[in-house]
Amino acid sequence: MRILVTGAAGFIGSNLVHLLRRQRPNWDLRVLDLLTYAGHAANLEPHLADGSVELQVGDVADPEAVEKALEGCDLVVHLAAESHVDRSILGSAAFVRTNVVGTHTLLEAARRRDLPMVLVSTDEVYGDLGPNDPAFTETHNIQPSSPYSASKAGADHLAQSFVRTFGMDVRITRCSNNYGPRQFPEKLIPLMIGRIARGQPCPVYGDGQQIRDWIHVEDHNEAVLAVIERGRAGEVYNLGGECELTNLQVLEGIGEVLGEKPLLEFVKDRPGHDRRYAMNGAKIAAELGWRPRLNWADGLAQTVAWYRQQEPWLESIRSGSYQDYLQANYGAR
Ligand code: NAD
Ligand code: DAU
Repeated sequence: MRILVTGAAGFIGSNLVHLLRRQRPNWDLRVLDLLTYAGHAANLEPHLADGSVELQVGDVADPEAVEKALEGCDLVVHLAAESHVDRSILGSAAFVRTNVVGTHTLLEAARRRDLPMVLVSTDEVYGDLGPNDPAFTETHNIQPSSPYSASKAGADHLAQSFVRTFGMDVRITRCSNNYGPRQFPEKLIPLMIGRIARGQPCPVYGDGQQIRDWIHVEDHNEAVLAVIERGRAGEVYNLGGECELTNLQVLEGIGEVLGEKPLLEFVKDRPGHDRRYAMNGAKIAAELGWRPRLNWADGLAQTVAWYRQQEPWLESIRSGSYQDYLQANYGAR
């Protein structure tokens, strides 16, 4: 079996490739990735160096690159995306191109070849919940809040239309907030590990009481593997970590692992900020027997330890355009 994984030089995709190499060593893996600011070929080592994973550098919105990448493949796992809400507020064009046009390009090409696709969507397509609302089920309204989540909702809707209109085999996963190794250090957890470890202020948007349902990336990818192998064509699977925490609780947790008290700096809120996400994972548990396994305390300790050992990687990111992004996002807050 040969699988194309798009966006696998990024956080979740690279962890998926490592998991598949360990658990399905007979599968051939090819990666299509544009290597944007969020994608690093080094995330796929040692598999690029030993030739066990092939990397094609290209754009999912480029039909020629997609045709070449699909050559000889049996299934596609589509993760490539512009993934950061804050960046989508600073500028949304790349989100529409990659997330909507890119997903459409891939759907068309896979349909022509009669290839099944697993689309990695997100809980953010549902919008947000009030404090006492029940967790999102797969039939909840799609009501995205940010340009990022709207572009992911567009991709998700396109995939569902290809199921209904063309009978294509697309399976969709909608997952909550991931954490773990190799996440680009502008998302909450890796950003704050660096800040707290260096005694720097932690920019908390608004009151810090927003709730996310945190899942370790390894658990998410176990679910993706279950959907690749046993998911039903045309189905949507919600999944979460069964771990709802406020952003302030997340910072406290990181501080405890590091033995440092976070220096909180309350800053202007994110426009359109979703208040709470929570996922009902009953369907994937009943159909595929999947449930998250790693608990928050162990997962966080492992993640903090990983980041503490990655100074050269972090230092190479902190220079250059990363500083421009920090200035654009935090400068005026
Ligand atoms: P990421 O930003 O770390 O990685 C995205 C990858 O896609 C990068 O390697 C980047 O180079 C690549 N990419 C971007 N534009 C591309 C293009 N036009 N063509 C080819 N490659 C391109 O993102 P992530 O956090 O690993 O998220 C992966 C997927 O999972 C995304 O679809 C995201 O919406 C979804 N998701 C993420 C989370 C989360 O908490 N991080 C939760 C649920 C779903
Ligand atoms: O829910 C799934 C989504 O989770 C994925 O689809 C996205 O790709 C992923 O980026 C993530 O989105 P969030 O917006 O929830 O993640 P982020 O790490 O950007 O922020 C998490 C929370 O922390 C959110 O409430 C905003 C807050 N925050 C974030 C940053 C970067 C702060 O308070 N301060 C910050 O500096």
